[in-house]
Amino acid sequence: MSEVVKREKWGSKIGFILAAAGSAIGLGNIWKFPYIAGDNGGAAFVFIYLISILVIGLPVLIAEVLIGRTTSLNPVGAFRKLSHGSKFWTAVGGMGVLAGFLILSYYAVVAGWSLGYIVESIKGVFFEFKTPAEAGHYFNSLISNVWWIVGYFALFMALSMFVVIFGVQKGIEKGSKILMPLLFVLMLVLVIRGLTLDGASEGMKFLWYPDWSAVTGETILLALGQAFFTLSLGMGAMLTYGSYMSKSDNIPVSAFEIVTLDTLIALLAGIAIFTAVFATGLRPDSGPGLIFYTLPIVFTKMPGGYIFSILFFILLSIAALTSAISLLEVITAYFVDEKGWSRKKAVLVFGTVTFIIGIPSALSYNVLADVHIFGRNFFDTVDFLSANILLPLGGLLIALFVGYFWKTENALSALKEGAESFFGKYGWFAVYWKIFIKYFAPVLIAIVFLKSIGII
Ligand code: PFF
Repeated sequence: MSEVVKREKWGSKIGFILAAAGSAIGLGNIWKFPYIAGDNGGAAFVFIYLISILVIGLPVLIAEVLIGRTTSLNPVGAFRKLSHGSKFWTAVGGMGVLAGFLILSYYAVVAGWSLGYIVESIKGVFFEFKTPAEAGHYFNSLISNVWWIVGYFALFMALSMFVVIFGVQKGIEKGSKILMPLLFVLMLVLVIRGLTLDGASEGMKFLWYPDWSAVTGETILLALGQAFFTLSLGMGAMLTYGSYMSKSDNIPVSAFEIVTLDTLIALLAGIAIFTAVFATGLRPDSGPGLIFYTLPIVFTKMPGGYIFSILFFILLSIAALTSAISLLEVITAYFVDEKGWSRKKAVLVFGTVTFIIGIPSALSYNVLADVHIFGRNFFDTVDFLSANILLPLGGLLIALFVGYFWKTENALSALKEGAESFFGKYGWFAVYWKIFIKYFAPVLIAIVFLKSIGII
């Protein structure tokens, strides 16, 4: 069916880079990365994270984009085509689409909190609190309100659907071209504010001077998992974005640019948050509540805090939106390519279905607070299943597919298209990519996966 409707392409190279960086840069960078680093010794974690990005992040990102560009199809169609109809590999693509649904269903709930916090910061409520515990108490009162949580979740889903419905060029690309520069500017403003606070250097020390005693095997696994999640790998989002690329685009260079932007934003978020946290005498290791409990108090203690709190939650919401649209696009591309649906129908139907699937996650903090599946509430179950199981499993299978089924030699000749002069200059890059996608990535991802399901 894919032949009937002409498939869209990105309008420009920068359009693809910004859209893919938009997918990568999200709650993972601004919410997760700082709190995991904060809980795991700061600089030591950052160092291991950077290595993880080079060892598995970049090679797998290249593999995913390459599969997409080679086939010009959604994850299911792409694996079917390259594997010549193998049921197993087609199902691997299907697993990606399923993971997209699941991730979006709870990711949009957290993104909804961020939208809600824009309003709370405009109302200036944070200034009523003195300690993170009080701010935490307020946060809990908000998320135990069904209307608040479901309402902002619905609003966020509607925003994502609004962008995706306009298609690749007029929706995702145009949206990214407006939102991503805005995100960079907002981030720079916050970093400058953080760095100019008295006592900012303590935060910088925390981020740059490693405390190796805080590093355990667990830290390495967390860093590997985070490298994976932050680059949107393992479920076909980058594959789908790659499918709108043209054969003359240079994949290694584009992938490098995406990884650089994503890493830069994570580090800048770390600088903005830790300089402010240390300067106001608070602690960096408050876990997932770091930006919802600790940061609001930080804002009350710093000059200009009112305006910076609003900017911060706008920034977080933009980052979440450009990631959510990539998740919705995976599902949309599947129904458009495989089932011949119109884009509008696919977005409206599956945006709504994702919202419905996400309702139990939203209710995990109120009506369904007492419902536990293997000791986890519904939200944590979906998060665990998708981020800790489906993503690493998907990534492992993608690496194995390229390394052993499609074969690195074939993949490499596809990769060289559009990148002839790059490989002419940097021949070693082919060797790096081959070795890492075939040996390092599968072994390391397998370890992360086995650990997360409790086998090792
Ligand atoms: N990379 C996004 C983040 O760091 O927030 C999360 C994400 C988006 C994961 C899209 C997976 C995905 F397909």
